Amino acid sequence: MSTPTPEPKDKAVAPDLALDSTLRPNIWDEYVGQGHVKANVRVALDAAKKRGDMPEHILFYGPPGVGKTTLAHLVALTLDAPLKTTSGVAIERAGDLAAILTNLEPGSVLFIDEIHRLGTKIEELLYPALENGSLDIILGKGPSARTVELSLPRFTLVGATTRVAQISGPLRSRFGGGTYQLDFYSDEDLRAIIARSARVLGLTVPPSVVAMLAGRSRATPRVANALLKRVRDYSEVHEVEMNEEACNKACELFGIDALGLTKDDRRYLETLETGFKGGPAGIRALASALHEDPDTVENVYEPYLMRLGFIERGPRGRVLTEKGSSYLRNGVSF
Ligand SMILES: Nc1ncnc2c1ncn2[C@@H]1O[C@H](COP(=O)(O)OP(=O)(O)OP(=O)(O)O)[C@@H](O)[C@H]1O
Ligand SMILES: [Mg+2]
Repeated sequence: MSTPTPEPKDKAVAPDLALDSTLRPNIWDEYVGQGHVKANVRVALDAAKKRGDMPEHILFYGPPGVGKTTLAHLVALTLDAPLKTTSGVAIERAGDLAAILTNLEPGSVLFIDEIHRLGTKIEELLYPALENGSLDIILGKGPSARTVELSLPRFTLVGATTRVAQISGPLRSRFGGGTYQLDFYSDEDLRAIIARSARVLGLTVPPSVVAMLAGRSRATPRVANALLKRVRDYSEVHEVEMNEEACNKACELFGIDALGLTKDDRRYLETLETGFKGGPAGIRALASALHEDPDTVENVYEPYLMRLGFIERGPRGRVLTEKGSSYLRNGVSF
């Protein structure tokens, strides 16, 4: 009997959807960082608005929790357009896509999250819809089958993915409005995000605590917001102020160290060091030793460990760096 593959899960950034929507910026000025992306997208949107037209299709990619969905919302808000949200996983059959496209209000933004999950057949159906706003529907089967071309309402597709390499060339080339990579956030940007979220949540958080939280946020806004909320919960339960001591104790309780690494990250590094003698280790073997899905390992754990310089991904596999092994020997203080 084969072992079932574990479900992909984004443990390190377990999305708290209610929190995401409460704290999601809905004006550009509150969308911190990613200056290059913001500037380019806004030009495309303003130009289209001036022409009284819809902008071309746009693709955002980057690690989980860095603001892709938020940008899709901002695009729709800027255009004053209805937003229809779906996901590559939800569109299983041609009929699913046809139903979505034909029901769009004219001038809508269609947001397809996890767009890398679209099947080949669905992608092919999407191409004419993206290029000339038409949908080819096949009626009947066998020799009597015929194709009918349906004309669709005008729309702009905004795609988002954490796995851009899995998007086919032909689909990528349809994003005439640009393909934008969202990067991890600087410490300064994270501090601004946490300070804003604290204001929205009505919390008093001293700058020193904002800085501590920023350092433990894995360079990711969603992690920053989730951590702020967890430390708030801790302070409320213990009836203490959100000061440095409370923040330290809460993080110690959660097993989050001063770099934002959790026991899962440490388990990854330890497995690489002891199970694979520091590497190179192939992704499949490593994921199996961790009882994790290779996608989760590759897209949730590794990007931040690479950013810290603790691991490297080479052609022969993952390697623990000197910095990574020094972290395992000495750790960082809470
Ligand atoms: N640039 C930003 N400025 C302020 N807050 C941000 C920014 N980017 C993200 N956030 C906050 O982080 C939360 C998560 O962002 P979002 O849902 O857009 O991430 P995502 O890239 O779509 O993640 P996923 O890949 O998991 O879908 C948002 O609700 C918002 O509160
Ligand atoms: Mg998203």
